[in-house]
Amino acid sequence: MELTALLFSLAALPLAMSETVLGVYIFSRHGDRTPKALAPANLTSLGADEVYSSGNYYRSRYVDSNATSPIFGLSSDIAVAGQMTVTAPADAVLQNSAQAFMSGLYPPVGALSTQALANDSSVESPLGGYQYIPINTVSTASSSADSENSAWLQGNSGCGNAVVSSNNYFLSSEYTSTFDDTKSFYSDLLPVINSTFDAKQATFKNAYTIFDYVHVATIHNSTIPSSDLLTNETLTQLQLLANAHEWGLAYNSTDTIRAVAGSTLAAQIVQQLNSTLNSKSAQPFGIQFGAYASFLSFFGLAQLQNVSAEFTGIVDYAAAMTFELVTNATVSGSEYPSPDDVSVRFLFANGTAAQIEPRAYPLFGQSETLLPWNTFASEMGKFAIGTTAEWCQACGNTTGQCASSTSTDSGGGDAAASSTSGKGNGISLPVAGVIGALVTLVVILGAEAAIYAISGLRLVKKSTLAQAGSGAGITTAGAKA
Ligand SMILES: *[C@@H]1O[C@H](CO)[C@@H](O)[C@H](O)[C@H]1NC(C)=O
Ligand SMILES: *[C@@H]1O[C@H](CO)[C@@H](O)[C@H](O)[C@H]1NC(C)=O
Ligand SMILES: *[C@@H]1O[C@H](CO)[C@@H](O)[C@H](O)[C@H]1NC(C)=O
Ligand SMILES: *[C@@H]1O[C@H](CO)[C@@H](O)[C@H](O)[C@H]1NC(C)=O
Ligand SMILES: *[C@@H]1O[C@H](CO)[C@@H](O)[C@H](O)[C@H]1NC(C)=O
Ligand SMILES: *[C@@H]1O[C@H](CO)[C@@H](O)[C@H](O)[C@H]1NC(C)=O
Ligand SMILES: *[C@@H]1O[C@H](CO)[C@@H](O)[C@H](O)[C@H]1NC(C)=O
Ligand SMILES: *[C@@H]1O[C@H](CO)[C@@H](O)[C@H](O)[C@H]1NC(C)=O
Ligand SMILES: *[C@@H]1O[C@H](CO)[C@@H](O)[C@H](O)[C@H]1NC(C)=O
Ligand SMILES: *[C@@H]1O[C@H](CO)[C@@H](O)[C@H](O)[C@H]1NC(C)=O
Ligand SMILES: *[C@@H]1O[C@H](CO)[C@@H](O)[C@H](O)[C@H]1NC(C)=O
Ligand SMILES: *[C@@H]1O[C@H](CO)[C@@H](O)[C@H](O)[C@H]1NC(C)=O
Repeated sequence: MELTALLFSLAALPLAMSETVLGVYIFSRHGDRTPKALAPANLTSLGADEVYSSGNYYRSRYVDSNATSPIFGLSSDIAVAGQMTVTAPADAVLQNSAQAFMSGLYPPVGALSTQALANDSSVESPLGGYQYIPINTVSTASSSADSENSAWLQGNSGCGNAVVSSNNYFLSSEYTSTFDDTKSFYSDLLPVINSTFDAKQATFKNAYTIFDYVHVATIHNSTIPSSDLLTNETLTQLQLLANAHEWGLAYNSTDTIRAVAGSTLAAQIVQQLNSTLNSKSAQPFGIQFGAYASFLSFFGLAQLQNVSAEFTGIVDYAAAMTFELVTNATVSGSEYPSPDDVSVRFLFANGTAAQIEPRAYPLFGQSETLLPWNTFASEMGKFAIGTTAEWCQACGNTTGQCASSTSTDSGGGDAAASSTSGKGNGISLPVAGVIGALVTLVVILGAEAAIYAISGLRLVKKSTLAQAGSGAGITTAGAKA
């Protein structure tokens, strides 16, 4: 125990002179935002400040000319677009978080942006030399655009089997018993939340959106109605229930497709770090902004819940995980280490890194916080989903983007069948559609409140699920709420 603690603290210290950081990949949550229950959600000024100062922390760690662990070859002051890959869903909260973070990583350069013109005058670029850093929007089927406007993110993953799997959580005994046990807890809170949630919605089914609503209010609203009901115990309980609910939807050890968001993220991390190695650090910096559910799914797949039960909890705003590609071999203009001499260190900060120093944790149930690159890549490979074909097969999707990439699936699809798009084969698609509609019952917001209320009463009873499913046509309209 003490040894482990020592390892952790050593890894968090500024490292020995001999170590070189060849590249990093960061996956970050957005900063403080308005509640999901009042869509569209917006990044707040506080939230922008959190991610900005997080970016500034990583600048002092990796980028600045006096950085504690400078990344080999990375430009210090002027952002060079080719050296980095910045990705965020097309979503006001996550896109804006990415921009604020990048302006902390590469702040305005002032006079450094001044350029001389032919006629001997000179010009500084606007906003004190503000740097415009391109942010790629995530647009593949495997990631969730607009995720910050959805109560639950899986619905946006487009992954048929993952939606089915997450919906199975609502049939589990964990879910149903907690639902029953917390009925009075949630109904007692109604005076606090009744401007947004009605009596039928105040249940464990909406554990996350209720927690989120109250959490945002405790940060921003000095006049919460009946705030005397919000004791410390109640606030803690709200958070623990939301944690259990979201972990249940994000990961299941015997049904790993539920964690598809973590699988696709794993592939992106390995691809980026590998291209850093292949390019000899010509492209050493990758960062992506995403939702807390992707953290939870990844934590589960990487077995971090065994390191600490805290990893089954929703990460705080601006939390980030970082993967450092490091070596003790000589690195210079002419010498670059072979992959055998390279290791990966995983770090996590549960909140803005400006306030919470990232700490190293061991991945994959191993004891070391520093893993050889080859070990890291092969462990990630055990659950990574990196190509459209793999994704389509794992998700059981055969139409749309998957119509042309399922010819090798084992479910009886053949070249002829898969070339006719829109004609799903096998029985899994209709089933997925029916159950997929159910997940929207869980989303309580919008004009469909009446429909939700009726179905909501039934959701706990397994026997009525089939019945509810048969009415799926009505409820799919809520899918994009
Ligand atoms: C978010 O911003 C949009 C556009 O400015 C606005 O319509 C909406 O009400 C805002 N949401 C919240 C919860 O403040
Ligand atoms: C690093 O340099 C920046 C200016 O580029 C300065 O603001 C900062 O204080 C320096 N940090 C350290 C630790 O010297
Ligand atoms: C120099 O050229 C720039 C761009 O054409 C122009 O805006 C500026 O007025 C010129 N300055 C002088 C002193 O001629
Ligand atoms: C995958 O299949 C599910 C269930 O049929 C469907 O809802 C989803 O839109 C599909 N995703 C894509 C990207 O085609
Ligand atoms: C996890 O998956 C297994 C197998 O599909 C299922 O029996 C179990 O109920 C699931 N647990 C939860 C909490 O979803
Ligand atoms: C919410 O609850 C409070 C206290 O019970 C009550 O005074 C108020 O009328 C309720 N508001 C709504 C919209 O139901
Ligand atoms: C604070 O809560 C009250 C009561 O729900 C609400 O009327 C008010 O709009 C809220 N204010 C803010 C800034 O959210
Ligand atoms: C509730 O928690 C806050 C901060 O953790 C603390 O300052 C306060 O004293 C606590 N109140 C009670 C009644 O325990
Ligand atoms: C890294 O890239 C090289 C060259 O493209 C490829 O051969 C290798 O399989 C990749 N390694 C991993 C772990 O993806
Ligand atoms: C992060 O903090 C939240 C509470 O703010 C907690 O629920 C969660 O377990 C923490 N996660 C980790 C990995 O420390
Ligand atoms: C480099 O050497 C230091 C000091 O021996 C050690 O703490 C660190 O883990 C090594 N880093 C790598 C990547 O091997
Ligand atoms: C993680 O913990 C679970 C139960 O808590 C256990 O079944 C599993 O074997 C553990 N995995 C590792 C790698 O220790």
